[in-house]
Amino acid sequence: MKHITKVFGTLIANDDVSIAIKPGEIYALLGENGAGKSTLMSILFGLYRPESGEIFIDGEHVEIHNPNDANRIGIGMVHQHFKLVDTFTVLENIILGVEDVKHGILQYDEAVKKITNLIQTYQLNVDLNAYIKDITVGQQQRVEILKMLYRDSDILIFDEPTAVLTPQEIHELINIIKGFAKEGKTIILITHKLNEIKAVADTCTVLRRGKAIGTVKVSDVSVEKMAEMMVGREVLFTVEKEDLTPGENIFKVENLSIEGRGKKVVKDVSFEVRQNEIVGIAGIDGNGQTELIHALAGLIPLHHGTVVLNGKDITKASIRHKYETGMSHIPEDRQKHGVIMDFDLQSNLILQNFYQSQYQKNKFLRFDAILENANTLIEQFDIRSEGGAKTILRSMSGGNQQKAILGREMAREHDLLIAVQPTRGLDVGAIEYIHSQLLAERRRGKAILLVSLEIEEVMNLSDRILVMYEGEIVGELNPKEITVNELGLYMSGAKRGASHA
Ligand SMILES: Nc1ncnc2c1ncn2[C@@H]1O[C@H](COP(=O)(O)OP(=O)(O)O)[C@@H](O)[C@H]1O
Ligand SMILES: [Mg+2]
Repeated sequence: MKHITKVFGTLIANDDVSIAIKPGEIYALLGENGAGKSTLMSILFGLYRPESGEIFIDGEHVEIHNPNDANRIGIGMVHQHFKLVDTFTVLENIILGVEDVKHGILQYDEAVKKITNLIQTYQLNVDLNAYIKDITVGQQQRVEILKMLYRDSDILIFDEPTAVLTPQEIHELINIIKGFAKEGKTIILITHKLNEIKAVADTCTVLRRGKAIGTVKVSDVSVEKMAEMMVGREVLFTVEKEDLTPGENIFKVENLSIEGRGKKVVKDVSFEVRQNEIVGIAGIDGNGQTELIHALAGLIPLHHGTVVLNGKDITKASIRHKYETGMSHIPEDRQKHGVIMDFDLQSNLILQNFYQSQYQKNKFLRFDAILENANTLIEQFDIRSEGGAKTILRSMSGGNQQKAILGREMAREHDLLIAVQPTRGLDVGAIEYIHSQLLAERRRGKAILLVSLEIEEVMNLSDRILVMYEGEIVGELNPKEITVNELGLYMSGAKRGASHA
């Protein structure tokens, strides 16, 4: 790609960027949120047209007007936010757009044969007849990968593929990617996880605010150096957490069970969260954490048990009532449950408060107050976007969408903050910032329930760790007394504790 420039309104997302990738290479694109990585790759994949610049494949100038053009010349992409049809099966999603039709009837046999082959070759296990909405995020990603392979792509773009995976799944994916490279496929990997770049990539180009800062041979540079290139300053890799004595009991969950998909997905879970305390829930994806939090937040019904917040029983309370009793929630799926993508930033920042007198008068919204609130949060939480308070959320980078949710949930009156995967998919600069904000909450006397698939995050931030395995809490651990490996044993079900909650 030579001299690529892409402009959105007044924002230069790619500023004269040139990169060169060799066949069979694992090439990493590194940069903070909003640096322009997805934009650059979306240009290569034909989703965006650049203002200027040219693309060459095997020395030949190519015009890529749309993803079909990209597919034709062997370029495939797994997007940061998957582009699957929820109500279609895995098989239907994989063949979508390249279906084999005879006499007006869809032909599946050949497709099934080819896909089954790919599944076996690359260990991409997934049920072809399952609906997308019923499978885990890790499995959805495999569907995206199968989509590329089904189209015989040989330049494979992965946009932040590990952001949504468990440590085990990441390990598997890395092996899959290495396997692709060995077969001569060319891999472009977008990530901000420096250790992963170290583990798989040959070459790495760093983007910062739309500009290519430099290209390095990965084996020649340290992780610290790459972090510095990316952020433009030194990055702290450890979190400083002071000793605090927990205060009053804020949140109490007793004997909570949830049924879903015909079985108990959460089994008799009890725990408490106190002021000045971060309680971490660790576990491999799919062990009931999502359902537990959805039930606590009111997104799914709760079948057995009681939930008490600030001394009030909120087991059967409406979502609005839960918020009014002092709950804040940073949801796992930020785009589905955290924001309204087609609303502007300022509206998104009052989603739970719009009906209150500070934002309404005689049933009319008070736009001056709404704008003022937005500007305060934008300033305080460093939410970056092209058009400030009026920016449509969809056009903001994932990290800044997350900062918007974080700001909204922290600024609203609350005593309990439920933070689920608060740093999923974010770069080190943003992660550092969000961690410091969570610790500030802890210092301010809030009770924090942190759910994360990132072992390091749970270990570094939590005062106590509850491990969930197959819907149960199988251990309550003190992060100061255990190692990451031991925690891993609990997470995989190999070990359980006698006492919990
Ligand atoms: N469709 C769009 N419309 C307007 N601005 C956009 C759009 N897509 C991305 N941007 C902006 O371009 C910049 C680069 O975004 P992106 O390429 O997604 O960054 P990255 O993938 O490195 O996090 C960001 O500031 C983002 O807000
Ligand atoms: Mg991106």
